[in-house]
Amino acid sequence: MVVKRPGGQKLAVVMVGLPARGKTFVARKLQRYLSWLGYSTLWANVGDYRRARAGAKQPAGYFAPDNAETREEREGFAMAALNDLLDWFKKDGEVGIYDATNAERPRRDIIREACSAAGVGVLFVETICDDPAIIDANVRRNKLGLPDYAGMSANDAFRDFRARIAQYERTYRPVEDGEGSYVKIVDAGRQVISNRIEGYLSSRLAFFLMQIRPTERTIWLSRHGESEFNLAGRIGGDPPITERGRKYAEALAEFVRSQPSHPVVWTSTLQRTVATAALIGRGAQSLRALDEIGAGVCDGLTYEEIKARFPDEFAARAIDKFRYRYPRGESYADVIQRLDPVIVELEGLRSPVLIVAHQAVLRALYGYLMGKPQDECPYLQVPLNTVIQLTPTEIGYDEERVTLQA
Ligand code: SIN
Repeated sequence: MVVKRPGGQKLAVVMVGLPARGKTFVARKLQRYLSWLGYSTLWANVGDYRRARAGAKQPAGYFAPDNAETREEREGFAMAALNDLLDWFKKDGEVGIYDATNAERPRRDIIREACSAAGVGVLFVETICDDPAIIDANVRRNKLGLPDYAGMSANDAFRDFRARIAQYERTYRPVEDGEGSYVKIVDAGRQVISNRIEGYLSSRLAFFLMQIRPTERTIWLSRHGESEFNLAGRIGGDPPITERGRKYAEALAEFVRSQPSHPVVWTSTLQRTVATAALIGRGAQSLRALDEIGAGVCDGLTYEEIKARFPDEFAARAIDKFRYRYPRGESYADVIQRLDPVIVELEGLRSPVLIVAHQAVLRALYGYLMGKPQDECPYLQVPLNTVIQLTPTEIGYDEERVTLQA
């Protein structure tokens, strides 16, 4: 396997928090990040179990903590989701994300004890927010479209969801220090509090959680303008851009100027990306982590030359393009590992960002942002002369591709 997992630990990330506090946003981000890094992950959402087994359309009173009948039913769904997660851990599961309110201590104790008996560590991730404006915006943006409210007017759905939150508030108890490892994310990332974070994986996740927060900013991905090597069909190297490449650089600068706010611009350290971003103005930052996949002994060759000089390498790459590593070069898996700090930096940025880089690197970045399985990464379409525009949603990004005349 590609990723080094010190300790080889299994971990249940147990979400905690009142409804509309961004639990699903955080849970999906974590899952995407971990899958991209090569961990086997599962996202179990107790609301989905409830919708599938009791029907989606339940009024707020269904969630009343003193309604003995529905309470028992809801706890049953929570335990069904937990048992499925534990079964998955018994197979090859590594990091399971248990997405539910888990607002009461007794349920959290059951989860922690069941996980501990199964040899699975627990990290509670609690999202806390008391700002009514943020909560209302979250309800309007992410909850009114749930199957729970199909066919209902937006105002009725809004009122019902607020009433559902009030039911949970009656018995909600934040996670306490004695419950073990936790990360609390307060006011969508304004403050992050952690307790008893132990081991490599939990520490890595705690670090990641410090960066993420809901944002509306756009991310643009672009390859460099056409290079001399593109024209000659050669890979790697550090060639200049062609006349057509310069035209693309002009079109890209024009595209950026037409946007409502100026993005942060990142390039690799190779001259074809630096030249492509040069006309945008206001200095781009050149990051070595964005350099193209290292082609090692094949650097500067055409695919025909590689096939003739290194037929075994050529065949091996065709069999497993994701894991194949060029002699004295890199694999896609290696590229993902070196892009990890870029992802953390990207998640922490609040402003729009334009990344001008290379095909393999952009495939890996796009794979993370769009939640693509690792093995698909080497085959993702990232053409020249195209800006990929990604706009955030609660569970990922909406995508638009803009072809610029070069
Ligand atoms: C739900 O049924 O929507 C959520 C259940 C839970 O979080 O406990």
